[in-house]
Amino acid sequence: MVFFVVAEMNFLFYNYAMNSNELRQSFLDFFSKKENGGHKIVPSSSLLPTDPSVLFTTAGMQQFKPYYLGEESPWGKNVASCQKCIRTSDIEEVGDERHLTFFEMLGNFSFGGYWKKEAISYAHEFVTKELGLKIDYVTVFEGTEGVPFDQESFDIWQSLDKNITIKKCGRADNFWGPTGDEGPCGPTTEIYVSGIEIWNLVFNEFYQQKDKTLKPLEIKGIDTGMGLERLAMVIQNVPTVFDTDIFARLPERQGGASTKEERIIKDHTRAIVALILDGARPSNKNQGYVLRRLMRRIMMYPGFSLDNFQVVKNVVEAEFKAFTVAMKEGLKHVKEDMDAQEIFSLYETYGLPVDVLRDKIKNFNQPEFDALLKQHQELSRTASAGMFKGGLADHEPATVKLHTAHHLLLAALQEMFGKEVKQRGSNINQERLRLDFSFDRKLTDVEKQKLESMVQLNIDAGLNVIQREMPLKEAQKIGAEMEFGVKYGNTVSVYFIEGPSFAKASAGQSKDGVVSKEFCGGPHVGNTKELGQFKILKEEASSQGVRRIKAVLR
Ligand code: ALA
Repeated sequence: MVFFVVAEMNFLFYNYAMNSNELRQSFLDFFSKKENGGHKIVPSSSLLPTDPSVLFTTAGMQQFKPYYLGEESPWGKNVASCQKCIRTSDIEEVGDERHLTFFEMLGNFSFGGYWKKEAISYAHEFVTKELGLKIDYVTVFEGTEGVPFDQESFDIWQSLDKNITIKKCGRADNFWGPTGDEGPCGPTTEIYVSGIEIWNLVFNEFYQQKDKTLKPLEIKGIDTGMGLERLAMVIQNVPTVFDTDIFARLPERQGGASTKEERIIKDHTRAIVALILDGARPSNKNQGYVLRRLMRRIMMYPGFSLDNFQVVKNVVEAEFKAFTVAMKEGLKHVKEDMDAQEIFSLYETYGLPVDVLRDKIKNFNQPEFDALLKQHQELSRTASAGMFKGGLADHEPATVKLHTAHHLLLAALQEMFGKEVKQRGSNINQERLRLDFSFDRKLTDVEKQKLESMVQLNIDAGLNVIQREMPLKEAQKIGAEMEFGVKYGNTVSVYFIEGPSFAKASAGQSKDGVVSKEFCGGPHVGNTKELGQFKILKEEASSQGVRRIKAVLR
C-alpha cells in the first residue's frame, strides 16, 4: 500500500513524464520491432555470472560474450535486454547525483547481424523520436596506434543530423571492454543528453587477449548500454537518480534534497537485496566479500543504526506476515469464474497481487480490471488532493476493521455525552485504534463499560456500512460528522453505518435509521459483524479539554 501511495504521489509530481517501467518497456518494444524480424528480448541474467574471470555481471553483454566469438546464439543474431548490473568500480562515486553500484542496463546487441549504420540510426531514432529528447552531443573514437579514427561512425552521425556536435575522444573514453581478463572489445560512440552520458554504443571489432594485445574479431558485434536510472533522471527532469520514481521518495521527503548518506543507503540496499536474491552470501572472499563490504558500510551510518535496522526488519517481517494471512484469506474467495467487480474487490480488500488473480481466475479480463483500477486511482488521487479527507493509508483487514470500530466509538461517545463531543485526532494501525475527543474529565469505569457495550451491540447487530458520494452541502445538511479543521471539496465521501430496518433499534440509532455518518475516505468493512469483540484498553488525558481512548478488536 505504501508503494501504491508513493507511486501515486510521484505520478502527480512527475507530471506524466514516463516512469521507469514505461521507459524499460518502450525500449524493449522499440527493439522487438526493429528490424528484419526484430530483436529477441532476452531476460536479465544473474548478477553472479558463470564467467570465472569476473565477479559480477557489470554489463548487458556479459551473458552474450560467447556469441561474439562464434558460438551460436540460441536467440538469434539480434537481441535486446534489460540487465541487472553491479559495478563496484563506481563505489566511491555513489552518493553523487548519478552513480550507483546496482543498476539496470538497457541494451541492444548483434552478433554478426547488423553493424554501425543500423546501431547508430536505432539509437538516434529511439532517443530523439521515441523519447523526444534533444542530443547535446555525441563522441566518437579519435584513433590510436592499431585502431584508426572512427570515420564511419562520424559520417553516420552527420548523415542523421548535419548540425549535430561530434567530439573525438581517445582510448580512455571511447574504447570499451573487455570484461574480465580477455574478451570482445572495441571503439565506441556515446550519446550525451542534458550533459550526461546516457548511451554507450560499442563496436566489438577486437578480441583483447590476456597479454592485452588486440586481435581482429572474425564476427563483428554490436554491444550497447544505457543506464535505466540515468535515463529516468533525464526524462523525469530531476536532479539526481535518487529523485526518480525508481527510488520513490517518501512524500514527506519531497522538496528537500536527500543527504549523501541516505543515497548510499538506498543504493547499497538495492545492491544487497539483489545480490542476496541471486545467491550471494556475506563472506571473506569474492562476491561474498563485496556483499559484506556493502552491508557493513551502511551499517556504520547513524541512519542505519542497529535500532533502525531492527525497525526495518520488524516492519518487513510484519508486512510479510500480514500479507501471508491476507493471501490465505483472499485465496479462499477466488473462484474460476468471477466478474471484474468481484475480482477488483478481492484485489482491494486483500491486496492479492494481480499476477495471482490472473493466474487463478479463468475469465480474468485485463482491460476490465485496468478500467476499474484506473477509476479507483482517480478516486484516490482526488482523495489525496483533499476532496475526500480521512482515508486510511493502510488497507490491511485488521486496520480496516478498527477504522469501522472507530466510527462506532465516536457515535457511542456522542450518544452518551451529546453531539458536542467531537473528534480531535485519530490514529489507526493494525493493532489498535486511537481516538482523541473533546471532553473535559476522566471517564468513570461504568462509563467505559457502557461505551464498550454500546459499540458491541452495534457490532453484534450486523449493521451494513455504506459509502455515498454526495455534494458537500447535502452532507452538511444531514449532519454527517466532519473532521475538525479540514477543508473539503465540493464532492465528499460519507460513510453510513445503518441501523437495522426491523423494529429493534440499534444503540444510538437516529430517526433516519443511521447509527453513524462521517465524512470519510474509507475503506471500511461491509458489515459490522466482521469486527468481533471490542475492548477499550485505556482512557487518558491527551491535552487540555481533550481525552484519548485506545481500543482494540479481539
Ligand atoms: N558494454 C557497454 C557498457 O557497459 C555497452 O557500457
